[in-house]
Amino acid sequence: MKQTLLVAIGALLFVLLSATVSPVHADNGPHGGYTATTDACAECHRAHTAAAHSLLVSDTTSLCLSCHGAAATGARTNVEDGLDTTANRSLRGGGFVNVTMNPAENLPGSSVQILPVTSSHDVSGDSSTVWGYGSIDSNPNPGATSISLTCASCHNPHGRAGAGNAATYRVLKGNNASNTPLFGAQNASVNLPDEVVKTYYTGVNGDYFGDHGAMVGGVAINAAMTAWCAQCHTRYHGPYPATPGSTDSGDAVFKFRHVTNDTTTTSCMSCHPGFVSYYPGCVSCHMPHGTGVRMSSNSGSVPWPDGGLIPSGDNRSSLLRIDNRGVCWQCHVDRGISFP
Ligand code: HEC
Ligand code: HEC
Ligand code: HEC
Ligand code: HEC
Ligand code: HEC
Ligand code: HEC
Ligand code: HEC
Repeated sequence: MKQTLLVAIGALLFVLLSATVSPVHADNGPHGGYTATTDACAECHRAHTAAAHSLLVSDTTSLCLSCHGAAATGARTNVEDGLDTTANRSLRGGGFVNVTMNPAENLPGSSVQILPVTSSHDVSGDSSTVWGYGSIDSNPNPGATSISLTCASCHNPHGRAGAGNAATYRVLKGNNASNTPLFGAQNASVNLPDEVVKTYYTGVNGDYFGDHGAMVGGVAINAAMTAWCAQCHTRYHGPYPATPGSTDSGDAVFKFRHVTNDTTTTSCMSCHPGFVSYYPGCVSCHMPHGTGVRMSSNSGSVPWPDGGLIPSGDNRSSLLRIDNRGVCWQCHVDRGISFP
């Protein structure tokens, strides 16, 4: 197994290194690249008759869904169904209403299905808790409460969202003062480089656990994403080579945590140190938008970090990539990472 991984990584590295170029990156759609006589502003803003804040034609999430929704034709990325409508393939982010996925990965009899979403980031603007936000705290502190999340919490609709106005991967907010905060007063600081040729769908249709994501100029996006997610979910981040699974963090809630990839590097080695191990990024286990996997009695009744028990059952699926705790099985049984 380890030998196979080593050979395969070597081959992949060769292909990736030979293909390295310094391209001009660009945002896409109406998100950036504006000219002096741009027409784009009028797609989303009104000067005098706006129906919503920031002079928008509608509330942020419904504005986004007017092009990225299931019935919309304004974009190829239908984030409600988790589908790239041009390629007819599963979107990397998953979906907010339905998702095309194999919820049991490579188990015998498993297949790609269209499933209703059981959990997603809640972009309705309702009040919610940013789980794990803030520094290590010896008093119980589950995160920042009363936060409302929209699509524009994570994405900058105007593009050029990175340091020095560079385009970022999926217009995700980076280190640029012109981005609105992620929430409250928390500004983004993690820049993800933009993809040269944009591929919005997973490598194999519906296979989310096995998806490696994009490789941009030596940066594995799924590795770099861990620090990006941790801008909001600060205390979930327990990076290799520390041993956060057996070292008490001092936090009352996030006391011992599953190890995540080494965020001091963003190459393949971030998750495969020495080429032989599999250290997960946040998005090795979770989908960014939403999932359709289902939970049985144990997985469906895990209390939330504030002790709450709702939602439970299938809706406790926590954006996971495989039914129940299939993600654990994939590494610790199928790929032989021993139970310490
Ligand atoms: C795809 C839709 C879309 C397009 C196109 C667009 N905007 Fe926006 N704009 C938004 C949204 C959504 C917000 C609110 C952002 C937020 O809440 O973080 C916003 C906010 C703003 C703001 C306030 C920023 C702030 O800090 O709150 C300004 C100014 C603005 N837009 C100007 C423009 C101009 C000028 C153009 C054309 C060059 C443009 N926008 C094109 C969607 C768009
Ligand atoms: C007027 C139509 C329209 C609206 C409104 C709109 N988008 Fe887009 N968006 C597009 C198009 C077109 C693309 C290009 C890719 C595609 O066809 O899906 C795109 C691409 C994107 C991408 C991928 C960018 C990349 O770098 O590849 C993201 C992320 C995105 N939109 C988010 C949003 C968000 C968030 C909103 C609401 C604030 C929004 N969009 C509103 C049309 C729109
Ligand atoms: C919690 C942060 C977050 C929120 C909220 C969010 N997104 Fe995303 N979105 C992401 C991330 C991360 C990706 C990159 C997924 C990947 O490629 O692995 C992404 C990818 C995308 C893409 C590219 C297609 C895909 O699925 O990979 C589009 C389009 C998009 N988002 C639009 C939206 C719209 C519209 C909303 C609101 C309905 C929204 N996003 C809400 C984080 C977010
Ligand atoms: C802008 C801040 C922000 C960012 C960035 C962010 N999240 Fe979240 N996340 C939230 C908030 C707020 C909630 C609670 C409300 C909800 O479920 O959307 C949440 C909830 C979750 C949940 C629980 C979902 C459920 O079932 O209720 C998971 C899992 C999660 N996030 C993982 C991630 C991952 C993985 C990333 C990176 C791809 C990420 N988050 C990026 C704000 C964020
Ligand atoms: C975010 C963490 C992460 C990054 C970064 C990453 N991998 Fe992986 N890799 C995984 C996980 C998790 C698996 C097991 C699931 C699967 O098969 O995809 C895996 C599996 C593999 C496998 C298949 C071996 C098997 O047992 O199925 C190869 C080969 C591989 N990775 C090579 C690479 C290469 C080459 C890079 C850099 C281009 C890379 N990986 C970057 C997490 C990562
Ligand atoms: C090894 C797989 C794995 C990795 C890696 C992982 N998670 Fe989770 N996550 C889970 C599981 C399983 C749950 C369900 C609750 C539980 O069992 O603790 C969960 C739950 C969550 C929740 C919901 C609240 C809660 O604690 O139940 C959030 C938020 C979250 N994870 C964020 C993250 C972020 C951010 C990262 C990266 C820093 C990350 N996760 C990495 C497996 C993982
Ligand atoms: C992407 C692969 C991957 C996935 C998925 C994964 N693990 Fe791990 N896990 C690891 C690695 C790598 C280590 C560190 C092993 C080492 O250093 O010896 C580890 C360590 C552990 C440890 C030991 C912690 C300690 O320090 O004592 C436990 C317990 C564990 N994992 C449980 C789980 C559970 C439960 C799940 C599912 C929620 C899970 N793992 C999912 C790769 C993974």
